[in-house]
Amino acid sequence: MKHITIFASGSGSNAENIALHFEKSTIARVSLILCNNPKAGIIERAARLNIPCRVFSRHDFYETDTVLQLLREVKTDLVVLAGFLWLVPGSLIEAYRGRIINIHPALLPGVGGKGMYGMKVHETVIQNGADRSGITIHYVDEKFDEGEIIFKAECSVDPGDTPEILASKIHELEYAHFPTVIEKLLSAE
Ligand code: GRF
Repeated sequence: MKHITIFASGSGSNAENIALHFEKSTIARVSLILCNNPKAGIIERAARLNIPCRVFSRHDFYETDTVLQLLREVKTDLVVLAGFLWLVPGSLIEAYRGRIINIHPALLPGVGGKGMYGMKVHETVIQNGADRSGITIHYVDEKFDEGEIIFKAECSVDPGDTPEILASKIHELEYAHFPTVIEKLLSAE
């Protein structure tokens, strides 16, 4: 059995979707959820899912090895960033190189990089007049949104789409694809 640790900063609907996907899997389990925001919705979802959830501070993350210890305690095979907003420190990337993935709610390379998260992404896609958007699942390296791309899926951006409408199309793509991409990665090992 492989162990997945998910990092989330907000609502955590992707984290929940992934956890449910693997609930009865013979391949992997979501063994731990890590969160940097004590007010995040993911904390309540984790409690409902009965998955251990730990909140860490900026100090913990960047100045100590608390998070690395937590990952090791549950024998993490794959780290999944699902709506996690902080840059991962080099020490963690080094320890888990090639085993940390992120989902970005737009097509990379393009609409990404520092500050490009949440509704800002969808607003930018619409302002750019793009007729396609989508999701990009990629490995995480030392820079925001620049690691090797693993998977992309697209949706249309239609006239009249608001950032909220686009966000919900993107969430549908995320729910449909993120768990299966994770499953494939873990099965290929
Ligand atoms: C998702 O769209 C994810 O791609 C992005 O932030 C959103 C998080 O949503 N980076 P949720 O917390 O999983 O509901």
